[in-house]
Amino acid sequence: MTIQTTPTQAFAGQRPGTSGLRKKVSVFLQPNYLENFVQSLFDVLNASAPDGLGLHGQTLVLGGDGRYHNRVAVQTILKLAAANGVRRVLLGQGGILSTPAVSAVIRAREAFGGIVLSASHNPGGPDGDFGIKYNASNGGPATETLTEAVYARTQTVTQINISDAPDLAIDTLGVQQIETMQVEVIDPVADYAALMRELFDFDLLRGMFARGFTMRVDAMNAVGGPYAKEILEGELGAPVGTVVNATPLPDFGGLHPDPNPVNAENLISHMARSDAPDFGAAMDGDADRNMVVGRNFVVTPSDSLALMTAHAKLIPGYKAGLLGVARSMPTSAAVDRVARALGLPCFETPTGWKFFGNLLDAGRVTLCGEESYGTGSSHVREKDGLWAILFWLNLQGATGRSVESLVHEHWRTYGRNYYTRHDYEGVAVDAANGLMADLRAALPGLLGRIFGSRCVVLADDFAYNDPVDASVSKAQGVRLIFDDGARVIFRLSGTGTEGATLRLYLESYEADPARQDIPVQSALADLAALADQVAGIARRTGMSGPSVAT
Ligand code: G1P
Ligand code: ZN
Repeated sequence: MTIQTTPTQAFAGQRPGTSGLRKKVSVFLQPNYLENFVQSLFDVLNASAPDGLGLHGQTLVLGGDGRYHNRVAVQTILKLAAANGVRRVLLGQGGILSTPAVSAVIRAREAFGGIVLSASHNPGGPDGDFGIKYNASNGGPATETLTEAVYARTQTVTQINISDAPDLAIDTLGVQQIETMQVEVIDPVADYAALMRELFDFDLLRGMFARGFTMRVDAMNAVGGPYAKEILEGELGAPVGTVVNATPLPDFGGLHPDPNPVNAENLISHMARSDAPDFGAAMDGDADRNMVVGRNFVVTPSDSLALMTAHAKLIPGYKAGLLGVARSMPTSAAVDRVARALGLPCFETPTGWKFFGNLLDAGRVTLCGEESYGTGSSHVREKDGLWAILFWLNLQGATGRSVESLVHEHWRTYGRNYYTRHDYEGVAVDAANGLMADLRAALPGLLGRIFGSRCVVLADDFAYNDPVDASVSKAQGVRLIFDDGARVIFRLSGTGTEGATLRLYLESYEADPARQDIPVQSALADLAALADQVAGIARRTGMSGPSVAT
């Protein structure tokens, strides 16, 4: 085998979005498309490392969610890594590693960084999406400075260094060699499971299952399956069959692996049966998202974060208390109320997990979460689906209470933040940009305006001043905040691959326990109408309602 240097030409549009470079599989299948991006990444890493050595002598972690093209991409990346100075790659067996597991392995093995192959919750298969993301040595997504540098490099890259070695045996555990680089195929679950053992009371959980506690985890034919099976069924003694759709499939068996009530409808209907298990949960394509479900009861991610914060001291890994909490701006303010009551710092960041990284690294927060079914803690630098599920399991074990009763009690104590997100998908890009531009222009006139019984007390385009590195992120979403705590937020998705997706986030606060059980969409119907009145959503998109409301 030898290292080849082959000429290449730049591709337009290789700018990573909210969470890496995501495109249709057909785009990634173009000759040199993946190679250009990875070569650009390696060029930037080689040029930017402070010691001048770059990747030389370093270890990278590699794995993906098993979607279509995962196995081919793994082989290509190994050959590129071997030709660009990497000393060692830790590869998940079969090319498999969940996103939180990549983060855990980078941290546990003190690797230089890692590459995650995933398009998260986007559908997979030949007609679906593929994605690639780089994580740094803290285990978290690369900074915007780095991803921008990679993007710039993709525009000027002219050659690819790649080994012509034959494919590696990626299903066989152990060490192999490619050029001078070692490839160690590792058990994808082991490091992650060890971390979970440190955080949760596994004896308590084993006791719960031994006494007949029932649970259903829907892994949606995605990468969370092997993790949930090994930990829940293997180590904790949950009955075989507790984890369903547990084998990662290249096309997720046709499922849309996004754990929300719409896409995980099977789990929702199962949990509504009279013989429903005690606890239900689902994860997304790369197992960083989670949905928590009680009997005929779905917990919103915003409430999940608030309850975790309120009860953290009951969980062994957090018994010393929390340093602080953080939520993305569109996530409901339910956690703010708990933080205030407990005297904890509470941060509001732009959408995207990467903004939590600095706060976690600086020891300012322990828990963080997003409305988009993402919750996590300082144990890794990604959100973590199975971690959230184990947290809720441990919480039920420690309190002896069901999911439903825990949430109802929470609302009685803190009040309820009614919350929904309306997605308008496949909107023409110009129409979506026009809507946002006009809204931004209208902001000064909206301040102080009265809508029914509510008055707008804040109308702005959210900007974030990172308290750790003082960087500023502007234009992160238009906010209308009302005098009664209600919020209406507009932003465009940064992860979609077709047209634009307008996200509308609606929230209202209800302190009165007698009014805390209204169906969510009715409770927020007036705010939805207000949003349409202000932004002309129906008129501009030609859609009479959202494509998805969760
Ligand atoms: C979406 C979610 C966001 C999450 C991201 C990656 O981004 O809204 O919370 O961090 O996926 O999972 P968006 O498409 O809204 O930019
Ligand atoms: Zn994901």
